[in-house]
Amino acid sequence: MDERLAAWLTALDERHLANLTHSEAARALRALSSCYVERRAKLARGGALDTAGKRAAFALFYAPLHFLVTREVVRALPDATRHVARIVDVGCGTGSAGAAWAMECGNARVTGVDRHPWAVAEAAWTYRQLGLSGRAARSDAERMTIDGGTGTAILAAYAVNELDGKAREILLPRLVAAHERGARVLVIEPIARRPATWWPVWERRIREAGGRADQWRFQVPLPPTQRALARSAGLNPRELTARTLWI
Ligand SMILES: C[S@@+](CC[C@H](N)C(=O)[O-])C[C@H]1O[C@@H](n2cnc3c(N)ncnc32)[C@H](O)[C@@H]1O
Repeated sequence: MDERLAAWLTALDERHLANLTHSEAARALRALSSCYVERRAKLARGGALDTAGKRAAFALFYAPLHFLVTREVVRALPDATRHVARIVDVGCGTGSAGAAWAMECGNARVTGVDRHPWAVAEAAWTYRQLGLSGRAARSDAERMTIDGGTGTAILAAYAVNELDGKAREILLPRLVAAHERGARVLVIEPIARRPATWWPVWERRIREAGGRADQWRFQVPLPPTQRALARSAGLNPRELTARTLWI
């Protein structure tokens, strides 16, 4: 395993398991997962990160998973890691997905943006832990300026589904416009049993702009803490999966 990744995972354990037992973390992970799977309406209201337990479960479990998925996706997509100097991570959460992409580009600079103050602080911590030059700022996806052209890569990992309909309507044309200025754009979402209704609209627009849509399955073993938490929470990710839009 990459040394920086291993050190970050150890630091995550120390940071989040200091005040939480393994079984408390597993219980919080179950609550968080049910929020993603069954209570999607709560997501746009910020329900996923509304308790300390769920925030810790997110940082400890989903953030490393999103790191691993993003790393595999950008390794697999042609030209996703060459000549990228800056990553803009929309809805960056704890910053892991953008950090993974930045590391694959030989340590591109990262700018993470999230509406949640806890996420912004955690993203800044993640960039420091991984030795990246990064900055995290608080903003709403709907209001943020998406600048940058060639050399910029824009990421929205597991974030578009949490936006409300209005924010999604505003964001899509901005992403396409950034692509027209030369930026690369990557949207990552889980493969859901019932895909969200916005996905086909986004897929059509991205394809019209010359992009592609993919589904991925990666055989990547989970790190030990994440594997143990998944087992205790009754989750069983045998493989890492995702769907993506890419231009
Ligand atoms: C499921 S998390 C994903 C975080 C991160 N991208 C990752 O892959 O781990 C979704 C994030 O989107 C953020 N978010 C939701 N709605 C937002 C909005 N309107 N503007 C900015 N961030 C938003 C949430 O605060 C949360 O941190």
